[in-house]
Parts: sequence; structure tokens; C-alpha cells
Amino acid sequence: MYNIEKNDDLEKNYKYMNIAIKDLLTTEKDEIACLSNITSFINSYMKDLNWVGFYLNKDEELVLAPFQGMPACIRIKIGKGVCGTSAKTREVIRVENVHEFEGHIACDSNTNSEIVLPIVINDKLYGVLDLDSPKLNRFTKIEENALKETVKIIEELLCVQ
Ligand code: SME
Repeated sequence: MYNIEKNDDLEKNYKYMNIAIKDLLTTEKDEIACLSNITSFINSYMKDLNWVGFYLNKDEELVLAPFQGMPACIRIKIGKGVCGTSAKTREVIRVENVHEFEGHIACDSNTNSEIVLPIVINDKLYGVLDLDSPKLNRFTKIEENALKETVKIIEELLCVQ
């Protein structure tokens, strides 16, 4: 059983989150199991999320992978929406208000802000990590830095099958 320890110190919580994810990836090789539990760790340590999950690059299209939240759109073209734009540019995209992002793909009408981080393994786009929140401007530099660390751990340690 996992023990999720949380307090009011956000950076400390995110540090514990990344320690748990690193521990997971050093002890388990099954890709889908690891991605699934990563979404659960993020959802447990970060508050005010309504969706967190992965889209994986399959034949130059993003395809829905392990997630937590409402059922979501299954396929996103590279270059489309926030996820596809992050995949294309290989840059982190933080959207304060999704209703002002041209081409945003709405999967849950409760979403108001979003952050997407590209994941690159062996110089190839592996996929993206996507988080949605019902709160406007939910994702700050603190979340961005913590999630960049999460992605770095994934890029270094995930066993891709
Ligand atoms: N909003 C995303 C689509 C994925 S869902 O948020 C889960 C986008 O614009 O790419």
C-alpha cells in the first residue's frame, strides 16, 4: 500500500510525488502499469485537477493512454489542440484559460486551465503528459517545475515495450 503524505508545502509535496514516481520506475518495468500509477500519484499529490493522463505518439498521432478523469477524446493530430501543439513544438504549454487558446480541444466542460509537457525518449517524441483543472490559472511555475522533473524521470527510467 502506498502512503500519500501531503501538507501545505506544495514544493515538498511535489518532491515526495517525484520520489514516489522514481521509486516506481526503478522497481517496475511494465510500461502501462507504470504510466497508470504515475497518473494516480500526480492526482493524489496535486490538488484541483479534473483530468491527468498521457497521450502517446503512435504513427505521428497522439493516442489516449492511462489517465484519471472523465472519458476523453482518443486521437489528437500532432499540431492540434494544446496536446498536439506541445507535441509538435516539444515545448511545455501552460494555458491560464483554455477558452482563450485557439484550437483547444474540450474533453470535459469543467476544464478551465491546462498544462501539457512533451516526453521525448531517445530523441523521439514518446507522447505528452496532460493535466486539466477546473480552476483558472491553476498551473504556476511551481507545478511546471515539478512536472518537468516528473517528465525527466520518465524519460530516463520508463521501460518502453
Ligand atoms: N485539451 C486537450 C485535449 C485533451 S483533454 O484535455 C484530456 C487539447 O486541447 O489538446
